[in-house]
Amino acid sequence: MSDIVDPKTIGSPLDAVSRRDFIKGVIASGAAVSSAGYLFRASTLLGQTSDATGERLITINVNGQQRRADVMKQETLAWTLRHKLGLTGTKLGCDRAECGSCTVLIDDVPHYSCSVLTHTVRGRRVLTIEGLASPDGRLHPVQRAVVDEQGFQCAFCMSGFIMSAVGFLKYHQKPTRAEFAQAHSGNLCRCCDYNKILNSMMRAAEYTRKNAHA
Ligand code: FES
Ligand code: FES
Repeated sequence: MSDIVDPKTIGSPLDAVSRRDFIKGVIASGAAVSSAGYLFRASTLLGQTSDATGERLITINVNGQQRRADVMKQETLAWTLRHKLGLTGTKLGCDRAECGSCTVLIDDVPHYSCSVLTHTVRGRRVLTIEGLASPDGRLHPVQRAVVDEQGFQCAFCMSGFIMSAVGFLKYHQKPTRAEFAQAHSGNLCRCCDYNKILNSMMRAAEYTRKNAHA
């Protein structure tokens, strides 16, 4: 499955339903793209051995699991997540700390994973979009809010916004729209869908409060 939407399906009579289903599927996994190629790919390039590339086998805690990977000294967390661990829900946009599409939580705090070296997260907790839903498949309140508001157009920036919102809502129970906009100033949307994104985020705050009191 590809994360590219067929333009022919946009605007069809079933648009509302198919778009909702599409968003739901992407939100649950963070990406519709198959990760099998990455999962079963050797972690070295062009047949080079770990010794030749300077890789070391390390263990990091990702989404509550201990994951092992051969990692180069200069390797970023975004690269490891996507290419070594098959977690392609974390997107790489600028790859230089400008767009926020690679945002993940490290010990509950949002970080640009393109600008964090993987070996520095040993002993810390990394949470990606794939780790948000409960084991029984129930979506996180922020994910539910995005489904209900149908926020995001192409959704490339979505996992970064969602992870940033999850981090923000841990410490801000009742943000105003302006505060939420400010909190997301490190996340860019190339589709400029900011109004809908903010609607989703305000709904996410509401669901998070309800969840806390449920
Ligand atoms: S890809 Fe990391 S901030 Fe843009
Ligand atoms: S919805 Fe397309 S980049 Fe944000």
